[in-house]
Amino acid sequence: MGKTKMIGAFAVVLALALAASLAGCGGAAGSASSSPAESGSQPAQESSTMSASGSAAQSQGIDYLALVNKLNPLPEGWEDALETVHFTNSVGDDVEVEKKAYDAYLELKADLEKEGVYVDLDSARRSVADQERIMKEFTEEYGADYAKKTVAQPGYSEHHTGLALDLYLIVDGKDVVENEDMMEYPEIWEKIHAKLAGHSFILRYLDGDEHITGYGYEPWHIRYIDDAAIAEEIMGEGITFEEYKAGKVYPEVSYDYGDSKLYTRAELEEAAIQVKCDFAAWEGCELHNLRYAGDGCNTPENVKWLNEIDEGAGYVQAVELIGDFHSPVTEDHPSAWALDTEYTDYQWWLGRTEDGGWQLVSSGY
Ligand code: DAL
Ligand code: ZN
Repeated sequence: MGKTKMIGAFAVVLALALAASLAGCGGAAGSASSSPAESGSQPAQESSTMSASGSAAQSQGIDYLALVNKLNPLPEGWEDALETVHFTNSVGDDVEVEKKAYDAYLELKADLEKEGVYVDLDSARRSVADQERIMKEFTEEYGADYAKKTVAQPGYSEHHTGLALDLYLIVDGKDVVENEDMMEYPEIWEKIHAKLAGHSFILRYLDGDEHITGYGYEPWHIRYIDDAAIAEEIMGEGITFEEYKAGKVYPEVSYDYGDSKLYTRAELEEAAIQVKCDFAAWEGCELHNLRYAGDGCNTPENVKWLNEIDEGAGYVQAVELIGDFHSPVTEDHPSAWALDTEYTDYQWWLGRTEDGGWQLVSSGY
């Protein structure tokens, strides 16, 4: 999936730039699944009932291109305008989906079946209470750090829209529902992803774009946008919805993780994701590279300093990443930086708790 071309989409300025810092934004692999239970192998039974509320907002409809992510909550009034369908999936769970998204999903499903690919829906629309429950379950099972990286904060999940659908696979008549099991079928996901745009769906959490979306790769999480041409553009370019909405493709960053005896490459990559998430909010700025400052950054004094900044955080380790970036070239973007300037050796400091999650604490010269 090449990312070389500037997208010609409308120039909606992503609220990233003006929003608060992306604390907690991360990208470990894995995802939230509302029903990770054992599954049977009976065929899906879909009987739908409409549960629409009749308000003034409903007549205006919902914005199928609304961006809901770590920084953008569900738009106000959404639920008043939302029309949904309920059905029972093959493992017996009730699933609620936005009406048009459901029709499109049925067409996608039928299209896939022609190719011998069978899918069902694990989770679609979730209330804030549903999301709270999932966050609690993940926190209890995997710890708070992992949960924050894989489950959206209640109010900030795309699932609240009813337009985000988590698929699961039916392989040789057996339901494959668990996230780690579904990851075992990349060739099936490839076939599914190739069909998405034709039915006005996009893939939302792309592999390698955790620093933009805030979440790890989720081949099962698709998003209905009600416009096949835009879906073709997004899927064809291999870009995230965030990039489409921002009207720009975020440039590649080069890395030098050095030779650490303290941290594994994966641990340093995880720290870099936090930095990139923070940087995504720097409107008009381009990050060029990030390098590890070396094991000497993890001194007791530095850990103490980070704990003083983030009182009560309980950091036990510190990491420093250094990078070069370019400030905005034009005055279109609000910025404290000198115009069109290359800034070198900028420092980002992160702390890590016993649970292992990096948190960006300080940045500057
Ligand atoms: N797993 C996705 C990010 C959610 O919880 O909405
Ligand atoms: Zn999902």
